[in-house]
Formats: sequence, structure tokens, C-alpha cells
Amino acid sequence: MFNDETIQWAEEVFGKIDHKLTLEAERLGDKIPYIPDEKTGRYEEDMAEKDPVWWCNGFWSGMMWQMYHATDKELYRKTAEANEDRLDKAFDIYTGLHHDVGFMWLHTAVANYRLTGSERSKARGLHAAHLLAGRYNPRGQFIRSWNRDRAGWVIIDSMLNIPLLYWAKEAIGDPRFGFDAEDHADKVMNNIVRPDGSVSHIGVFDPYTGELLETPGGQGYASGSSWSRGQSWAIYGFALSYVHTGKQEYLDTAKKVAHYFIAEVSKTGWVPVVDFRSPAEPVMIDTSAGMCAACGFLEIAKHVGEYEKQLYIDAAINILKATEAKYAIWDDEKDGLIDYATGSYHEESWTEVPIIYSDYYFLEAILRILDKSFLIW
Ligand code: GLY
Repeated sequence: MFNDETIQWAEEVFGKIDHKLTLEAERLGDKIPYIPDEKTGRYEEDMAEKDPVWWCNGFWSGMMWQMYHATDKELYRKTAEANEDRLDKAFDIYTGLHHDVGFMWLHTAVANYRLTGSERSKARGLHAAHLLAGRYNPRGQFIRSWNRDRAGWVIIDSMLNIPLLYWAKEAIGDPRFGFDAEDHADKVMNNIVRPDGSVSHIGVFDPYTGELLETPGGQGYASGSSWSRGQSWAIYGFALSYVHTGKQEYLDTAKKVAHYFIAEVSKTGWVPVVDFRSPAEPVMIDTSAGMCAACGFLEIAKHVGEYEKQLYIDAAINILKATEAKYAIWDDEKDGLIDYATGSYHEESWTEVPIIYSDYYFLEAILRILDKSFLIW
């Protein structure tokens, strides 16, 4: 699938990642990182203390499990296990939990269970899966995303949470989890993905009837715009729903959004702007959208015919190489692997900084190229 030059490049990058993540893991101990401090360039906060229910609290552990799987180094396994223990506090808080229990426990407990067979981890994964299934709306046939007064809100990011339900279905042989996940994926596919291959961030449904009421702009520029990370959630999320169900519509949806994404990202040197339908100025980059899309493209490439594959592989490699060349952080004194991720279009505080999820998808994509990854989703 990959030419020799790409393999050699990925091997060199993997060596640098292993070196850098070893340093970071030694410095962090059991702390859960998110964004390095602006002044020191180091992870100073511990998200397990600051915000135990934060949706990103699994990514570091996911990186550690991917690295343990690729290298067998005990440091990585121990770091991941310590993070998983500390996430138990989030279960105790409960009322702060949301649909992102998928992101949180797929990367911690479920990854642990997949690699070690730990029964304690299986129980934690199932606990999280039941919380996610408990958010299912049987009239609207969707899983509500957020809390407070947003009973009918569904966000495209949810497509990366429902793999927790596909896992639970297999883990205990109960198809209910699969029914919930497929109903949700169908609702998103038919209401949030647009006919032209672009995607809204949010769909607001009537929680009593399931009727689509509006599609606010969310973390993108505005309603009707095209938040790049949201597009990448759709690409990878629908590819994953295809992997778990075999439903061709999901693969076709992933491909449709992928084609739109490739057309857009090729205009800006293969590094995505935050929103593909925003004003020309200011130019704001979000590397994380490219990293997640690259993982989606590499997954899609595994399921299409010989003459289609190269489109997805080339797009993934173009994005990864362009991003690594411009935005990788190979300085040992600084934390983070990939700079210039952006939380959302209108939120100034997390603009063009290293964010843990950009690192996770970068790592997963590099390991995919080297055939050293395992499916965490
Ligand atoms: N899931 C929230 C985000 O993508 O920022």
C-alpha cells in the first residue's frame, strides 16, 4: 500500500515519537495531559484533577496503549494503567458525564481489555457503554450528545463515541448496543451529513418526535459552514461504523465526506483551515482535523477496490507529511508532538496550539503506515 520512501519516512518519525513520548511519560507520571503551558511549553496541568470528566482525558492513555502495542515497553503500559485508575473519579461525578464516555473509556479501559484481557477494565468499559446507551432517545432514535437543556442535540463528534457500543455488543453478546449505535449513525447520516458531502457540526432534533429543527454552527464558523474537524469526525466515524456493521451506506458516506475534504484541504497545502466555509481572513489552521481525517482515509483504503485505494492513501500521506514538516515539535524540552491544533473557530484560548488529540491521531496514522497499530475504536 505504501511506497518505500513513505515507509522510511514513517520509520524515522516513529523513532522520534518513541523518544519523545518516553521523555513525556517519565515527566508526567500518572498526570493526564491536554495542552502544554503557553510559557513553559510543558504539560503543567493535570486534567484528572482540574476536570476529571473532560472529554479528552483518554487520548494520552490511547497513545500509551498504541505505543505499548508497538514496542512492548512497560513504561507505556504502566502509564496507561495509572491514567485508567484515575478516570474512576469521573464515574463518581456522574452528572458531569456526557456522550464522550466513548472517547474517554475506549482509549483507557477498552484498550486495556483488548490488549491484556483485564476483567476490571472490561467492567469499566461496560459501565461506560451503559452510560452511553442510557442517553438513547427511542422516539428520535438518536443518542443525545450534551447535557443541561439540550435533550435533542446531536453533534457529529458522536460518531467516534458509538464504537464503544459496537464493542459492548461483542463483549457481552447483546445486540441492543448495536441497535442503538446503528439507529444513531442512520440519524446522523440522514440529517447531519449534507448531500454535497459537507457536514454540519450540530443537529438539534425535537426530543419528542425526532424532527430536525436546526443546525447551529457549533465549533465552526456559522450555521451552514463546514468545521474541518467535524468533517474528519464524519470521515473516520462512518468508516468505523462500516467496519463494525458491514453496512455499505456507512462506507459510502465516509467516502463522500472524504472526497469533499480532499478537495478542500488540497487548496491549502494539505493542512486544513478550521472551517472550509469561513471568510478568507483570518487564516486559522487546525492540524487535528487533518490527523483524524488521515486515519479515516487509511481505514477507507482498506475497504475499497484496487483502483480507488491510492486516492485515499495519497491524501493521507500528503496531509501527514505536510503537517509533520511544518508543525511537528521535535524539541525534547517541549511537550506535544503536533502544533497548530484549534479547539473551535470562535474560541480564542485554544487556537493554533498543541492539543492532545492531534498527537493521538498523528501517532495512530504513523503506526497504521507501519502496520503496528491496533484498532482502539
Ligand atoms: N469533541 C469536541 C471537539 O472536537 O472539539
